[in-house]
Amino acid sequence: MPKEEPVISFDRVMLHYGEGAPVLRNISLSLYKKSFHFLTGASGAGKTSLLRLLYVGIRHSSGKLKIFGKDVSEISREEQCKLRQRIGVVFQDLNLLDHLTVLENVALPLKVIGEHTKRREHQAKEILDWVGLGNCFNARPDTLSGGQKQRVAIARAVITRPDILLADEPTGSVDEKIANKLMGLFYGMYKMGTCVVVATHYRQFVDKFHYNEIHLKHGCIVEKDQVEQDVTS
Ligand SMILES: Nc1ncnc2c1ncn2[C@@H]1O[C@H](COP(=O)(O)OP(=O)(O)OP(=O)(O)O)[C@@H](O)[C@H]1O
Ligand SMILES: [Mg+2]
Repeated sequence: MPKEEPVISFDRVMLHYGEGAPVLRNISLSLYKKSFHFLTGASGAGKTSLLRLLYVGIRHSSGKLKIFGKDVSEISREEQCKLRQRIGVVFQDLNLLDHLTVLENVALPLKVIGEHTKRREHQAKEILDWVGLGNCFNARPDTLSGGQKQRVAIARAVITRPDILLADEPTGSVDEKIANKLMGLFYGMYKMGTCVVVATHYRQFVDKFHYNEIHLKHGCIVEKDQVEQDVTS
């Protein structure tokens, strides 16, 4: 049987911001649908930068990066918008829109793909109930706690059931019980076929769930046997 095409493929990808030293170096990586990955590494190792490349928030400097089989250097603006509609993102700084209500924030990705008002409201309410924010539909994000905001951002990222889900430190501000519940949500997405990438400093989860770990050190992917050395040093 021919090998399935990866949803994400990096081939010797480098990233520089401006004229500075490379922030990501020689990244080669293939990620497939229905897979779960933790992205780890010390602060400044390049986790957020790698995720930014994946949702085409920035462009790489050299090498080849393909998403859904498309070379991102060659895609048009229109193709880029289409591609982004298949990717759910929980940003490290959340990026919630404070002039919209919680419900409107969560329903927004459905609006972008043209879903009817009633249906998007229904789905947004359902997912907000599930993450324990059933009493916050009409609140503005800037009136919520850090952990509540994080759950709004997660609800918004999963509402379209994306093919790729990228989450950057998604559980940093919630207690352990909610963090476990949210990990369960990510797990459910993975089981339904999504390629899930979760950047985290939360070693406890990485050790507990035994998913694939992509560990970055100074912008390079480090082999498994060197990870322990890095996290204990
Ligand atoms: N917009 C930018 N312009 C220039 N340098 C940047 C920019 N964003 C990040 N960097 C640099 O790139 C490197 C990697 O940063 P990045 O945010 O990817 O790390 P990280 O692993 O996500 O860290 P953290 O765990 O603190 O979130 C750092 O040295 C950072 O200073
Ligand atoms: Mg980061």
